[in-house]
Amino acid sequence: MGLMDGKKGLILNIANDRSIATHIANNVIKQGATCGFGFLPMDNIEKSQRRVKKAMEENGFADAWLHPCDVGSDESIEKFFAGVKEQFGTIDFLVHSLAFANRDYLKKDAGNFTSTPRDVFKQAVDISAYSLIALARAAAPLMPEGGSIIALTYLGATQVIPGYNVMGVAKAALEATARYLAFDLGPRKIRVNTVSAGAVRTLSAMAVGGIDEMFTHTEKKAPLKRNIDPDEVGKTAVYLLSDLASGVTGENIFVDSGFNIVGL
Ligand SMILES: NC(=O)c1ccc[n+]([C@@H]2O[C@H](COP(=O)([O-])OP(=O)(O)OC[C@H]3O[C@@H](n4cnc5c(N)ncnc54)[C@H](O)[C@@H]3O)[C@@H](O)[C@H]2O)c1
Repeated sequence: MGLMDGKKGLILNIANDRSIATHIANNVIKQGATCGFGFLPMDNIEKSQRRVKKAMEENGFADAWLHPCDVGSDESIEKFFAGVKEQFGTIDFLVHSLAFANRDYLKKDAGNFTSTPRDVFKQAVDISAYSLIALARAAAPLMPEGGSIIALTYLGATQVIPGYNVMGVAKAALEATARYLAFDLGPRKIRVNTVSAGAVRTLSAMAVGGIDEMFTHTEKKAPLKRNIDPDEVGKTAVYLLSDLASGVTGENIFVDSGFNIVGL
């Protein structure tokens, strides 16, 4: 018997087999869930789909439903959810595991954050934070019996992490967005929480200047004296997406070897 037997939900977006989304998928599927996936259609849509399919194959869920979704486009979100409705009818959970900021403004150099242009700021907050509202709005009507939504965040939302820059601002917006959504959707029995993951070597993380320092600092300073295994994020996702967390909403759970509690 799995903790997520009979539950259906969406995971957006997988880029490759290192994606945190892939680790979440592995864990929720292991617990009996049925998942549908999104991927970002890049310039060459077939090529981007092939890469995601490869990760799905390697992880044993090659046959799962997969559809393009660019959260920067209302039309793309609409098409994605039209497909979801046709495929699943109703859903029980949604995982927001995506973010974007122009890497030119994710550098540790002095003055890099101050130089953030308006369009770079807008894009980072739009793709990484507003998208949670857009996806929750589209998902809520498909959750008539209630549901669970989670979004992936990082310590840079509340503490200065050199190089995280505009993405830190976007994550602060994401965390606040999750709390307001939790309040707004609570009467419909839809829970909304965030998971603040420690550093993981993924495609997106490699764009952040100073990422290597985050790994060495965590090993030295975190209570557990090690970096996290992304599978641990997957296990916390199972908790939040399953009925184990039925009384939990508007929360942020750190999966970071305890790094966030340390002052020095
Ligand atoms: N890797 C880390 O160290 C770390 C730590 C804490 C939180 N996170 C968060 O975890 C989440 C997943 O990131 P990841 O580290 O697995 O990296 P990843 O590169 O594997 O995943 C990022 C995903 O965002 C998607 N994306 C970017 N722009 C998009 C758009 N316009 N529309 C739809 N999708 C878009 C990409 O296609 C990709 O699938 C992100 O929110 C990230 O900020 C990562």
